[in-house]
Amino acid sequence: MTKPKVYVTRLIPEEGLEMVKEFCEAKVWEGELPPPRDVLLEEVREIEGLLCLLTDKVDAELMDAAPKLKVVSNYAVGYDNIDVAEATKRGIVVGNTPGVLTDTTADLAFALLMAAARRIVEGDKFVRAGKWKTWGPKLLLGRDVHGATLGIIGLGRIGSAVAKRARGFDMRILYYDIRRREDLEEEWGIEYADLDTLLAESDFVTIHTILSPETYHLIGEREFKLMKKTAILVNAARGPIVDPKALYKALKDGEIAYAALDVTEPEPIRPDDPLLELENIIVVPHIGSASIATRTKMATMAAENLIAGLKGEMPPHCVNPEALRR
Ligand code: GLV
Ligand code: GLV
Repeated sequence: MTKPKVYVTRLIPEEGLEMVKEFCEAKVWEGELPPPRDVLLEEVREIEGLLCLLTDKVDAELMDAAPKLKVVSNYAVGYDNIDVAEATKRGIVVGNTPGVLTDTTADLAFALLMAAARRIVEGDKFVRAGKWKTWGPKLLLGRDVHGATLGIIGLGRIGSAVAKRARGFDMRILYYDIRRREDLEEEWGIEYADLDTLLAESDFVTIHTILSPETYHLIGEREFKLMKKTAILVNAARGPIVDPKALYKALKDGEIAYAALDVTEPEPIRPDDPLLELENIIVVPHIGSASIATRTKMATMAAENLIAGLKGEMPPHCVNPEALRR
């Protein structure tokens, strides 16, 4: 039996690649950067399966170039890089990697929150610059995490896992979501608030929604004005949920105190971006799910989704099951 042809757009952990190679005739892009668009469009011509990353745009043009495509397996939980409606129309199933990265990403969001609150990155730079002369009564004073109010925007899997961590720090927890979860409120000790109230009352605001037309620039000029001047913003979801120009202005003018970002717009952020000239921001390179164990599990999940789709079966984690039911 000939093996189905697939294209893998980056070197994912070996455990996943091996599963793919066992079942498929796989071509793998081994570059450190994503395959250029023209290469990607060329490589998909004969393939039945695509294992891609959030850095690859999978749109109608790509699907036109890949008439045999049956399955797109995204090595990520978020899939805003894929035109799912277009895939569904063509009977192409789309897989993602939910669940495995929930706690890992929540850990990172909390790490950013704490690093900003206690000025960890500034402290490290201070020491390396040889500025540490003595114990300072007012050196690098930050803000308490324990007892503070945390506002969670988006109470999905990751937002919920952040709430769990916040309980351990005795935080008051507000959440805003398009879906109110009254069933969880008492058990989890969380309070529902509309977005404006959440922004006005929170010491820390952390974003865990998907990126969609509704959440694009959800946090902009108006929202920063509602926030406390002492507030700290954390974004470990998708960059474009925050308007970067408004963020720059808010940080520079002291409308909020600090930001800690795992995601940016554009991504990657350019080294000469004005945001990086500010002291009151931490930026890390989209490493939310980047633990050894989680990235390995994501690789095997992505491989399982790909292989199921190639067999004409429902991928274990499919975002558009209706594609198979047409
Ligand atoms: C990473 O951001 C993901 O969506 O998995
Ligand atoms: C993503 O996994 C989420 O639901 O937060």
